[in-house]
Amino acid sequence: MIRIEGGRPLSGRVVIGGSKNAALPALAAALLTDEPIRLKNVPAVVDISTMVNLLERFGASWNRDQAGGLTVQVGRIAGTEAPYDLVRRMRASVLVLGPLLARAGRARVSLPGGCAIGERPIDMHLGALRKMGGTIAIEHGYVSASCGRLTGADITFPGKTVTGTENLMMASCLARGRTVLRNCAREPEVVDLAELLRAMGARVEGAGKDVIEIEGVDRLHGAEHRVIADRIEAGTYIVAAALAGEEVTVDCCEPAHLGALLEKVGESGSEITALPGAVVVRRPGGRLRSCDLATAPHPGFPTDMQAQFMAMMTQAEGRAAIVESIFEHRFMHAQELRRMGADIRIEGNTARVFGPTPLSGADVTASDLRASACLVVAGLVASGPTVVHRIYHLDRGYERIEEKLRGLGAAVEREKE
Ligand code: EPZ
Repeated sequence: MIRIEGGRPLSGRVVIGGSKNAALPALAAALLTDEPIRLKNVPAVVDISTMVNLLERFGASWNRDQAGGLTVQVGRIAGTEAPYDLVRRMRASVLVLGPLLARAGRARVSLPGGCAIGERPIDMHLGALRKMGGTIAIEHGYVSASCGRLTGADITFPGKTVTGTENLMMASCLARGRTVLRNCAREPEVVDLAELLRAMGARVEGAGKDVIEIEGVDRLHGAEHRVIADRIEAGTYIVAAALAGEEVTVDCCEPAHLGALLEKVGESGSEITALPGAVVVRRPGGRLRSCDLATAPHPGFPTDMQAQFMAMMTQAEGRAAIVESIFEHRFMHAQELRRMGADIRIEGNTARVFGPTPLSGADVTASDLRASACLVVAGLVASGPTVVHRIYHLDRGYERIEEKLRGLGAAVEREKE
């Protein structure tokens, strides 16, 4: 668990690591070739280890070098099953489905199952792979898929899906002919994956827009790629600084990936300065102001920042209406914030936050990755100690968070559960 003594102002510089949600599909892309893929700026978080363990089951070898690079090579496919005990721990395991079908013509991947924030189906992934000639059955809680060589198709996603877009981009690279993917997710992590695939010899155009076109090739080769900065880690420190900061420089991040968040943090009164590769956050002179928010697919406000922003709105003057449009159950953190003294009322997918309310430190329990970040952020401004339990959620996506916060002046300690 993590113990935070609130009330210490944050100042100084924090360095942001590589994006977990860009590194995960990049690792899955290593399945598409028998040559080595060398990734730089890969964060040392639990989800990355989980994905590497999964790739080992398919025959991958890997090593981390002194310069912080992670090289993965799947010289030959030695297995095509992603077991339940791994997939249930990390839904992003579904990202191996497209590459395994493209490279080996078969895959057996456990259905991810739901998680704290929602049911998390993968029907859009499966529907699209069927259109490319995949034979897909759901049996005993597993997706059993097989195909000859996948065939290019014109596919429109019924809804925006980040890993669905990534899965199909990877599957299409080795398909016969041309694939057009429509209504694609536009997240920076999708664009980053396309950069890697192109470096591997794939022919991918349009990533970052609604329509992505891929011309299938017969084989892909090894490549080296630097993973983009983690915009959600950066956003988490930006919100922490807006809430508890004097002045904080969030370094090694990409302001262009944070447009909607920076706009909202600015609207609530903090002074935001975007520099090349960094964001400087200065606490406002007066109180923070409440502002309404609705999460949306990129370039809208990221759902992965909703919980952290809610923590901030508990200290803002007025009423903030926060609409969670992406996931059906992503307000678990609200009940824990209420236990710290927040005034939050939930009606359907809208949470109304009335502020400012003084927060008092308490024992709280994390329910998912971003909810745990929200509780740590709230602890920074609560009076007395806050102890966040079940921080294995936090370790999935944040590298050395207690060290980085201590570096900014916070009183944060990790303790045994
Ligand atoms: C990615 O999850 C991210 N994970 C999530 O980050 C993020 O919250 C999410 O995108 C939304 O931005 C990774 O990139 C590894 P979706 P993903 O498919 O791809 C529904 C974190 O904190 N849907 O874009 O699983 C789905 O239920 C994690 O790092 C279907 O109905 O999300 C959701 O309501 C949490 N059918 C919505 O679409 C499908 O086939 C968006 O899901 C696929 C999705």
